[in-house]
Amino acid sequence: MNPILLHMKFFIDTANLAEIKEANNLGILDGVTTNPSLMAKEGITGEVNILKHYVDICNIVDGPVSAEVISTDYKGIVREGEYLATLHKNIVVKVPMILDGIKAIKHFSKKGIKTNCTLIFSAGQALLAAKAGATYISPFLGRLDDISANGIDLVGQIRHIYNNYTFDTQILAASVRHPMHIINCAELGADVATCPLKAIKALANHPLTSSGLETFLADHAKGNS
Ligand code: G3P
Repeated sequence: MNPILLHMKFFIDTANLAEIKEANNLGILDGVTTNPSLMAKEGITGEVNILKHYVDICNIVDGPVSAEVISTDYKGIVREGEYLATLHKNIVVKVPMILDGIKAIKHFSKKGIKTNCTLIFSAGQALLAAKAGATYISPFLGRLDDISANGIDLVGQIRHIYNNYTFDTQILAASVRHPMHIINCAELGADVATCPLKAIKALANHPLTSSGLETFLADHAKGNS
């Protein structure tokens, strides 16, 4: 376990403002991640609308908000990322795990611009992104599970590697699909889990909690009738 971990952060993985507000109102939300697919799912298209949407999200949650570049060449990633970073102090520039992305992450790191290296599927990719100075790396758990690999094992492997050194890069577990992913991430010491609202809310459920509460309320009603 990383001795400098103070607490596990919960991000919500959506561009849906109502869900972001609901999670934020629970009082346990630390940040937001988005990607082009999540933006498209909410019908947010066109540069002006997309940029405005990032600002809207930043105005709801006081924490890091990942905004993804769509350029795939170094100059384009740098241009886009530097602009995204001007939108709000909490913007984290999300950069794909490609060599031009690594080079751009190094550039952003030198300029003090926070980054999230996305589409991480191997320990080697996580090591490279940490070397470049990424603020966060996003291993995609669910998508590894989808191809009969083990997403959680990758989180453990990256944690082990980072703990051998003094990398500041935080492990941001992504493509989280269910509450056990979140619990397994916590067991392994992931710094952050970015989750759908449904998976966060499911952490609260237990049948013995429901039946126990029902009994308490029924007994109270009997005693007071
Ligand atoms: O954070 C990445 C996430 O949005 C991808 O999730 O479920 O499409 O693999 P999923």
